[in-house]
Amino acid sequence: MRTKVMLVWLCGVLVAYWISPVTPVTEASTATPVSTTDTLTTPTCAEETVGSYEWPATEIGANATLLCPGSTEGDVYRYCDNDTTWSIQDFTRCKSTVLANLELEALDLDDSASSALLLAVDLQNASKPSKLIVSGDLVAATSILYTLIEHSLLSSCNTTSSIVKNFTEAILMVTSQLLDEDYSSLWNEVHQVSDANAVLNLLQKLTTFYDETISCMSNIDIHEVQLSTVNMDASLITVPANASGKYVYPTVTTTNNDQVTVPIDLLTELDSNNKSGLAVVIYRTVTSLLPSTDLNSRLASSEGQLNSDILSVVMYPSQVQPLEQPILLQYSHLQSATNPVCALMNYALTTSSIWSTDECETVSTASDVTSCNCFHATHFALLMTIEDGSTVKVPLNSILVAGVVVAMFFLLATFVMLLFVNRSFEFDWALVVKCFLFTMMVSDITFLSGINATVDMMICRMVGVILHYLYLSVFFWMLAQAVLLELKIVHISSASASVFHYCLLGWVTPLLVVAGAAGLKHKNYGNSYYCWLSINDPAVYGFIGPTVFVIIVNVVVLCFVIHGFLTIKKNRHKGMVDMNKLKPAIRATIITLPCLMITWFLKSFAIEKNTEPTYTVYAICNILQGILIFILYGVLDVQVQIFYRNKFGHNHKAVQDSSPKAWSDKTSENNKTSPNNFRASSLTSFSSRASESVATIRNDSTASISSAATRRFLVFFPEEDTGVTDEKDDLFAWTFKFLGTNI
Ligand SMILES: *[C@@H]1O[C@H](CO)[C@@H](O)[C@H](O)[C@H]1NC(C)=O
Ligand SMILES: *[C@@H]1O[C@H](CO)[C@@H](O)[C@H](O)[C@H]1NC(C)=O
Ligand SMILES: *[C@@H]1O[C@H](CO)[C@@H](O)[C@H](O)[C@H]1NC(C)=O
Ligand SMILES: *[C@@H]1O[C@H](CO)[C@@H](O)[C@H](O)[C@H]1NC(C)=O
Ligand SMILES: *[C@@H]1O[C@H](CO)[C@@H](O)[C@H](O)[C@H]1NC(C)=O
Ligand SMILES: *[C@@H]1O[C@H](CO)[C@@H](O)[C@H](O)[C@H]1NC(C)=O
Ligand SMILES: *[C@@H]1O[C@H](CO)[C@@H](O)[C@H](O)[C@H]1NC(C)=O
Repeated sequence: MRTKVMLVWLCGVLVAYWISPVTPVTEASTATPVSTTDTLTTPTCAEETVGSYEWPATEIGANATLLCPGSTEGDVYRYCDNDTTWSIQDFTRCKSTVLANLELEALDLDDSASSALLLAVDLQNASKPSKLIVSGDLVAATSILYTLIEHSLLSSCNTTSSIVKNFTEAILMVTSQLLDEDYSSLWNEVHQVSDANAVLNLLQKLTTFYDETISCMSNIDIHEVQLSTVNMDASLITVPANASGKYVYPTVTTTNNDQVTVPIDLLTELDSNNKSGLAVVIYRTVTSLLPSTDLNSRLASSEGQLNSDILSVVMYPSQVQPLEQPILLQYSHLQSATNPVCALMNYALTTSSIWSTDECETVSTASDVTSCNCFHATHFALLMTIEDGSTVKVPLNSILVAGVVVAMFFLLATFVMLLFVNRSFEFDWALVVKCFLFTMMVSDITFLSGINATVDMMICRMVGVILHYLYLSVFFWMLAQAVLLELKIVHISSASASVFHYCLLGWVTPLLVVAGAAGLKHKNYGNSYYCWLSINDPAVYGFIGPTVFVIIVNVVVLCFVIHGFLTIKKNRHKGMVDMNKLKPAIRATIITLPCLMITWFLKSFAIEKNTEPTYTVYAICNILQGILIFILYGVLDVQVQIFYRNKFGHNHKAVQDSSPKAWSDKTSENNKTSPNNFRASSLTSFSSRASESVATIRNDSTASISSAATRRFLVFFPEEDTGVTDEKDDLFAWTFKFLGTNI
C-alpha cells in the first residue's frame, strides 16, 4: 500500500521536474545546428544573428567573442547563461582609439598640475556628445575621470588659481557630457552588463570631488566656480566666517523650478582658513539614466517613483548632521503625479531601498512643483505616485475582487460544513477535501493581498513564487483525492494511505517543483504590473507543465476509479454502503477538475488582457466554481446529508415527510384543484415551512442554514431508487446517469 503511494508520488516528482521550465529551452538546444557533436552532453545556446553579429552556438557558462564594431578595438563578449539563454551583447571592452590612448595617458599621469589639466581638457574634447561610440568608451571615460578626481592636484593644491579653476570646469564639463541623454543607451548597457550602480557611483565620486575642490578654493582664495549646462547646474562657493543669510541657487529659475536654499548659519564648522563652503548641484538627466528598479532594486521605494531631478548639496567642511535648520528644496515635477514624498539618498542604509524619507518633510505642493525641508546634506529627490496610462497597475479590479471573495465564501461554507461532519466520516475523505479547500482559500487570499505588490521587486517575486506553489498544490490535492478514491476502491475496507502521505503529495511535491522552477527562473516571477507569471512568458511552462502532468495523472487515476467502481458494483460482494458513500466523492472530483483548469486559464487570461469583459467572465466562472464545490463536496455528499439529518432531523418531522416526492405530489395535486384550494394548501405549506424555519433558528444557526440548503437541493435532485437495479454495463449510459443523479 505504502509503496504504491510512494510510487505515485515519486512519479509525480520526476515527471514534474522533467516537464518544468527547462523543457522549452532544451528543445531549443536540440534544434541547434551541429558544431558541438563531441559535446552532446553539455547544453548550448543556439546560433543567433543580432544585427551584423552572427553568434556561434556556445556552451553554457562560456563567453562567445567577436570583433568590436567599426573603428573600435577589442572584442564583443556574449555570455551563454546556465539556462541556455544568451545574455545581452557586452560592448564594455570595446574602445575607440582616442579613449584607449587617453587611458594610457591616465596610467602615466605624473604629479604636475598642468599635465592633469591637459588630460582633463583632452577628455572633455573626447567625450563631447556623440563622440563616445560603444559602452566601452563610456567605461573608459568614467575611469579616466575617476583617475583625474583622485589625482593629487586638488588635495595638495600646490598650483595657481587659474589651473584649479580651469581643471574644475573641465571636470564639470566632462561630467555634464557623460550624463547626456545621448548616452543613455550606453549607460543602460553598462548597468545591465557590468555595474548596476554605475551612475550612482559617479554621483558619489563627485561628492568627494566637490569637497576637495572647495578645500583647495579656500586655500588659494577662489570665491566661486559655476557651470550651467543643459544637463547640470553646479555652483561651488567658499563662505567667509562672518557671512550670514541664505544661499539660493540658482538665483533665478529659468528652465524649471528646481531651486536649493541653504541657510548660511548652518556652516558652523570652519576650516584652517576660517572659511566654509557649499556645493549645490542640479542633475537634470540622472533620473532618466538611472537603471530600472529591476536591475537595481535598491532604487525602488514603496513611497513612489522618482519624479524630479536629483539635487545635491555638499557642505564643506563636514557639518554636524542632522542639521539644526533644514535645507529648502524646490522641485519641478517631471510628470503629473500624486502623493509627493520628499526623500534623500542614503547609500549606507542597509534596508532594501537607498531612499530615506526620515529626515525630510513636505512643505508645500502644487500641481507641478513641491517644496521640501531636509535635515541632511546629500542627494535629494522627490518620490511620487505616477499614474499615467502606460503603467496601469492591474489587476485589483473590483469585479475580480468580487469574483474571488464570493467564491471564497462558498469554499469557506463548504469547509465549515465538513468541519462539523468530520468525525462521522469513515475515512480520510473529509480531511483531504478540507486540505484542498484550505489551499484554495489561502491561494485566493494570497492572490488578493499580493498580486499588486509591485513596488518591491523582492516581495513581488516572492508573491509570484508562493502563488505558483499554491495553485500547483490545489491540483496536487485534486490528485490526492483521486488517489484516495482509487485506494478505497481497490482495498475496500483495509488500511489506506495515512494522512501524512496525502500531505506529502499535496503540499510537499509542488514545493519541490516550484523550488526547482524558482531556482532556475526566479527573474520571471513578477514584473512591474503584477506579481505572477505572464502567459506570454516561457516560464509559464513552469506552471503549465507540472499542472498538465498532474491533470493527466488525475484523469488516469480517475479512469481506474471508475473502472474499479463499476467492477465492484457488478460483482457486488460486501461493501455496498461504502460504495454509495464513494459515489458523490467520485462525481465531485470528476466535475471539479476541468472546472479548476478553466478558471485558472481564465484568471491568467483576464490579468493579461486587463479588460472588463475578461474580468467579468472570470468572476462569473469563479463564483460558479465556488457554488459547484459547495454543492458537490458539501450539500450532495451522502455522509454530510446523513450527519445533518441525524443531527437536526428530529426537529423537522414535517420536512422528513416532505421528501422530494411528497413535495412534487403535493404540487401536482394543487395544480389540479381549484384556485381556492390551491391557495389554502399553499398557505398551509407556507406556514409549515415557516414554523420549521423558526425551529431551525432556535437551533444551531450555521448548521441549520446548510441543512435547509440541503433540503432545498434535494428538491432539485430527486432521490434515486437505491434499490438494486440491473443496469447495463454500458459505461457511457452509466456515466450520464451517474453525473445526473443523486445518491
Ligand atoms: C565572460 O565575460 C564576462 C564579461 O562580459 C566576464 O565577466 C566573465 O568572467 C566571462 N566569463 C568567462 C567564463 O570567461
Ligand atoms: C552557473 O554555473 C556556474 C558553474 O556551474 C556557477 O558558478 C554559477 O553560479 C551559475 N550561475 C547561475 C546564474 O546560476
Ligand atoms: C579635439 O579633438 C579633435 C579630434 O577629435 C581635434 O582635432 C581637436 O584639435 C581637439 N581639440 C582640442 C582643444 O584638443
Ligand atoms: C609645489 O610645486 C612646485 C613646482 O611646481 C615644487 O617645486 C614645490 O616643491 C611644490 N611644493 C610642495 C609643498 O609640494
Ligand atoms: C584657463 O582657461 C582660460 C580660458 O578658458 C584660458 O585663457 C587660460 O589660459 C587657461 N589657463 C590655463 C592655466 O590653462
Ligand atoms: C566680513 O569680514 C571682512 C573682513 O574679514 C569684511 O571685509 C566684511 O565686510 C565682513 N562682512 C560682513 C558682512 O560683516
Ligand atoms: C580664525 O578666527 C579666529 C577667531 O575667530 C582667530 O583667532 C584666528 O586667528 C583665525 N585664523 C585665521 C587663519 O585667520
